[in-house]
Amino acid sequence: MRIWLQHGGVTCTSASPNLPPAHRFSVAPMMDYTDRHFRVLMRQVSRHALLYTEMVVAQALHHGRADALLGFDLDEKPIALQLGGDDPQLLAEAAELAQRWGYDEVNLNVGCPSPKVKQGRFGACLMAQPHRVAACVAAMGEACRLPITVKHRIGIDDQDSYSELLHFVDVVAAAGCQRFAVHARKAWLEGLDPKQNRTVPPLRYELVHALKQERPQLTVELNGGIETLEHCREQLSRVDGVMVGRAAYAHPLQWNQVDQQLFGDHSRNAVKASEVLRGVIPHAERWCSSGGRLWPIARHLVHLVEGVSGARYWRRQLSREASERSARPDVLERAARQLEERGL
Ligand SMILES: Cc1cc2nc3c(=O)[nH]c(=O)nc-3n(C[C@H](O)[C@H](O)[C@H](O)COP(=O)(O)O)c2cc1C
Repeated sequence: MRIWLQHGGVTCTSASPNLPPAHRFSVAPMMDYTDRHFRVLMRQVSRHALLYTEMVVAQALHHGRADALLGFDLDEKPIALQLGGDDPQLLAEAAELAQRWGYDEVNLNVGCPSPKVKQGRFGACLMAQPHRVAACVAAMGEACRLPITVKHRIGIDDQDSYSELLHFVDVVAAAGCQRFAVHARKAWLEGLDPKQNRTVPPLRYELVHALKQERPQLTVELNGGIETLEHCREQLSRVDGVMVGRAAYAHPLQWNQVDQQLFGDHSRNAVKASEVLRGVIPHAERWCSSGGRLWPIARHLVHLVEGVSGARYWRRQLSREASERSARPDVLERAARQLEERGL
């Protein structure tokens, strides 16, 4: 409730004026990873990137767990709430809530291949039902003023031709979606598990490029397998945005020049690991003083330091100290000081 009040009436800011829009570089939605703590970390790394939540199932929101499911820090903005569902009414309700809570946009998940999600008849299996997705998008668009975007695959199972992809996008665009984040691999809903569905089907960037070329009026973001800033830059000559998932989680500091290099914000220096850590401390203080434990925050921070001598020792020490039930943010202070002493 506290956060709802804090967010009431907040106007949406998608990106700083005169800079490219936030979706030029985004951190992909990832269940169990892109929680509010990781987003606070990534916000220290880039001031301008668009950050996605984990998928929130519209039905779960309907059943009243809004505080736990929607809470975020204002510092995390610009932020997109990703929703899962196939019921236009429930999704409309969720989109309206997203607006009330101060999210900048709402994204519908049409890419998740997990059996549980498929059983709920949403996620990637919705690619076979473009008109249903269109009805969901239209209902969400009517319920709020936020941009409604869709994240999807290039195809599913045997429905994987370019013409089917184009048909899907056209039908959904006609319902009011102007931005598509495309994971450039198909999903096999039978036979592969979710992890395999992120590695086994080949990446086909050329289909995403063709989509942008043939539908220049739509905003197209490319997702899947992007590992470096150089890679982002290459893709940005063909599409409007790049979305990075696993490489952002595993190597957060590797993206510390996104603001300068992709957004053209030269007022920003590349942050160091210690600066990221210090930037997270105010959030950790608020979190712990309202009864939260330190570990859900610290578990993400251990990825900040890699490839330097002593990294392993630092990570182990932070993990050990931060996982104590009674751990407080001073553990992070100490860890930051150790990094500062080494100029990291
Ligand atoms: C652990 C994990 C959880 C994920 N959860 C979601 C999710 O909740 N919603 C979604 O649209 N995609 C989800 N994805 C897929 C990613 O958003 C992204 O599309 C995929 O990892 C490919 O991008 P990458 O190669 O940059 O990681 C998840 C991926 C991973 C690795």
